[in-house]
Amino acid sequence: MAIDSQLLEMLKQAAKDVSKNAYCRYSEFPVGAAVCGGSGKIYTGCNVENVSFGLTMCAERSAIFSAIAAGEKSIQAVVIFTPTESLTPPCGACRQVISEFGDEVQIVSFSNLKSSEPQSIQELLPSAFGTLNHSE
Ligand code: THU
Repeated sequence: MAIDSQLLEMLKQAAKDVSKNAYCRYSEFPVGAAVCGGSGKIYTGCNVENVSFGLTMCAERSAIFSAIAAGEKSIQAVVIFTPTESLTPPCGACRQVISEFGDEVQIVSFSNLKSSEPQSIQELLPSAFGTLNHSE
């Protein structure tokens, strides 16, 4: 299902705001993400890096884990902001995590210069590994 344009604007603003909190002293690449849970509430997350680089957490997963911790059982949309020229689509690990919480999840990336059209997780991660049937 398409994202309502007013909701999309709210998610974009939330993603942009939270990108300012990114802890990215190693990459200097801040990322902000906003998730709309099944309830319609908005959750945010930023990337949090670590001196042991492999422990870094992406913005998208930070936001999704906050949504789940707050009691959401599914997600409707993920919006990703980077203060760059080019867009940052979700990494492979984040795509797998998104696919856990819905197969209709809509994903939008935007930057200082452009915005993607919404794409579904099925488009971004075709033939995903999974044992869940989200429609049940
Ligand atoms: N990063 C995200 O937060 N989300 C993505 O989808 C791609 C990468 C972060 C991880 C790391 O802190 C920085 O961007 C550079 O890779």
